[in-house]
Amino acid sequence: MPNASLTIRVVVGKYTEGHHAALLLPVFTSGWKSQGVFAEADRISPVKPRDLCASGEIRGEFREFTILHAPPGGTFDRLVLIGAGKESEFCPDRLRSITAKAARTLRRLRCGQMVVVPEAFVGTSPEIVGEAVAEGVMLGLYRFAKMTAEDGKQELPLELVFLAADAPEANAVRRGVVRGQIVSQATIMVRDMANEPGNVCTPVSLARTAQEISKRRGLTCQVFDEKALKKIGMGGILAVGQGSVNPPRLISIKYEGGGKGAPLLALVGKGVTFDSGGISIKPSNGMHQMKYDMSGAAAVLGAMEAIAQLKPKINVLGVAAAAENLPDAGAYKPGDVIKMYGGKYVEVVNTDAEGRMLLADSLVFAIGQGADAVVDIATLTGGCVVALGHIASGVMGNNQWLVDQVIRAGQSCDERAWQLPLFPEYLVQIKSGAADLVNSGGAPASAITAGMFLRQFADAKPWVHLDIAGTAWIEEDTTLYFHKPYLPKRGATGVGVRTLTYLAESLARESQGKKSRLSELLSASREI
Ligand code: BES
Ligand code: MN
Ligand code: ZN
Repeated sequence: MPNASLTIRVVVGKYTEGHHAALLLPVFTSGWKSQGVFAEADRISPVKPRDLCASGEIRGEFREFTILHAPPGGTFDRLVLIGAGKESEFCPDRLRSITAKAARTLRRLRCGQMVVVPEAFVGTSPEIVGEAVAEGVMLGLYRFAKMTAEDGKQELPLELVFLAADAPEANAVRRGVVRGQIVSQATIMVRDMANEPGNVCTPVSLARTAQEISKRRGLTCQVFDEKALKKIGMGGILAVGQGSVNPPRLISIKYEGGGKGAPLLALVGKGVTFDSGGISIKPSNGMHQMKYDMSGAAAVLGAMEAIAQLKPKINVLGVAAAAENLPDAGAYKPGDVIKMYGGKYVEVVNTDAEGRMLLADSLVFAIGQGADAVVDIATLTGGCVVALGHIASGVMGNNQWLVDQVIRAGQSCDERAWQLPLFPEYLVQIKSGAADLVNSGGAPASAITAGMFLRQFADAKPWVHLDIAGTAWIEEDTTLYFHKPYLPKRGATGVGVRTLTYLAESLARESQGKKSRLSELLSASREI
């Protein structure tokens, strides 16, 4: 685990005592604060931050970075002054970003300690400081352990210390740190899964991971192998998996924190451990990246891991449909008509539109398990990347209230999602002459027609679809990490874990733990 060398301590202590390697302080564009811990910084440093701010050398622009060294014997050896932007624009995401940047820089400088004084972030509650800083540091320091002959390179240990003013503040910070640790650890787990190559991460290994999570967190887990899938008639999952020697799996995990009478939220993820396109094979350029085509399933498993620890009063079913999409003598072919779970027939016109085949079966399964609301998450279409790039996930659904809940859950953690329309006219593109539906509507609005396809399987249940094809993975040239240094420079982002986790929490709150309350809220909403 790349983060095993990070320790986080929350202590009650004075910043005028003791001895630490580095103190992190925010500088806002409104100028140097000069009070409290800021005055201590001016006291110990021969070059006064106050003067640098007054002269305009430090302007407090977001992500601006200055390190000042203090003479030995003082309370802090270094002052890490980090631009926090306008005070009116300061938010947890900026806090996450600046602490990620600070942690990364200190690691590069081989400095082993960073101190945060919560009261330096006036206007942000100690709990949020604990949460956002823990997330920034944990996610920012994440590195996928490369598979090399000499692996196991030792990470330098970093100690993150919160110096709280008193016991109540320390307790609030601790509560936040625990939340931050839980979601970050789950996100890191998801990044690892998605970064793993297809020869390591297979449908069977995803199922094993799900079983481990369930065991560790006291959840119930059910795995359907090919035989079980055949028996219940999951034609979509079987069709996609039949071209590979790595057999498909349907994974189902249940969290029952709401008890009887509480709503059941189903989270459904696409788990294509490698997508070659199948017989409708993809161009070889960039094909290797398609190992992250299981990011939706991983996000669902990560959310279950976090939800099991945060314990919202709601029941959650996590469903991951896992298969490998390869061309082979036994592979499904263009023109094949597949009987899906639940009885609908799909004409395969493109074997590369495999994600919706898996998800369709899984949606019907989730609804059959009694879900009151279903949210699926998938690296579903290149069209979504064309439309929204790497900045926002696509969101579609048949219930505006649920769509808004998902968007809001994403906003609360800066995982942005943008709604695309599911106008009924799009349905024309996926009508089949040979079956109920074709599995591809072609190039025009391909993210939407994929959504329209899924909608047929969600039927009348409130359902939302998140297309994370663009947001689940970062390529070096997008330099997103420059703006959000808690994201990796390259590779899997772990997107969706936080959105889904916060969604479960918000639905628990909104429904007050009652099925009837949730169905009122859902049915009062505009049908789309
Ligand atoms: N996994 C891909 C979608 C994808 C593309 C994810 C790029 C991430 C980056 C999906 O299975 C796929 O191949 N979709 C096709 C659908 C088409 C055949 C209708 C696509 O988007 O081109
Ligand atoms: Mn595909
Ligand atoms: Zn795919």
